[in-house]
Amino acid sequence: MKIRQLDFLGSAIGEEQFPPADLPEIALAGRSNVGKSSLLNMLTNRKNFARTSSTPGKTQMINFYEVNGQFRFVDLPGYGYAKVAKSKKAAWAAFINHYLEVRENLIDVFLLVDARHAPSEDDKLMYRYIIERGFSGTVVMTKTDKLKQSELAKQRRLIEQQLQTQGRAVFATSASKTKGKYPFWDYLNQLFASHGLDIKMERQQEEK
Ligand code: GTP
Ligand code: MG
Repeated sequence: MKIRQLDFLGSAIGEEQFPPADLPEIALAGRSNVGKSSLLNMLTNRKNFARTSSTPGKTQMINFYEVNGQFRFVDLPGYGYAKVAKSKKAAWAAFINHYLEVRENLIDVFLLVDARHAPSEDDKLMYRYIIERGFSGTVVMTKTDKLKQSELAKQRRLIEQQLQTQGRAVFATSASKTKGKYPFWDYLNQLFASHGLDIKMERQQEEK
């Protein structure tokens, strides 16, 4: 993928810190530690562009990453981290929902789920919310390197059934093993086209 330029536009803890709504945004939602930041690094060919951590709850702010000055990935705070105070959890949830509700340049939100686990109640709520707001309901399974092929097929069925994806796109990815990157980019290209956007990330010749 030709990523000429990658800019971290900053972290927002309030709406006043959002960058101008002048470029399309694609947001990643999911539980704390599911691998949102790692997926962003994989997609953008970087090792540590989006900060990752083995300590859950690291990303507590909404982070904006701009690609080629054309569009942005938005890393939403991970939800469901047990060690965070209830009041703080509610505040994050309200902040995430607010972003999803008011952001007019947001073209889609993908839900990330750990391929090894059944979706949590929070995942189900978030998924329903995403669908209700009219987004595509695309699901990204993360950490598939932790499963055997047969287990992966079983987990996919479980996740599809519990979230009620009903034929919507479900991607299998591994940031550690760089799996699922190009199908995902092909899908993003289609998404841009379907929104009438002139953005296309071409594969480099050596990429398969
Ligand atoms: P928060 O920002 O805390 O919400 O977490 P996050 O969703 O951004 O997760 P992050 O990318 O920081 O990854 C959390 C942990 O999972 C890190 O220790 C990563 O190395 C690990 N991880 C992420 N993706 C993968 C993967 O594809 N395979 C494996 N085996 N580990 C992964
Ligand atoms: Mg993160």
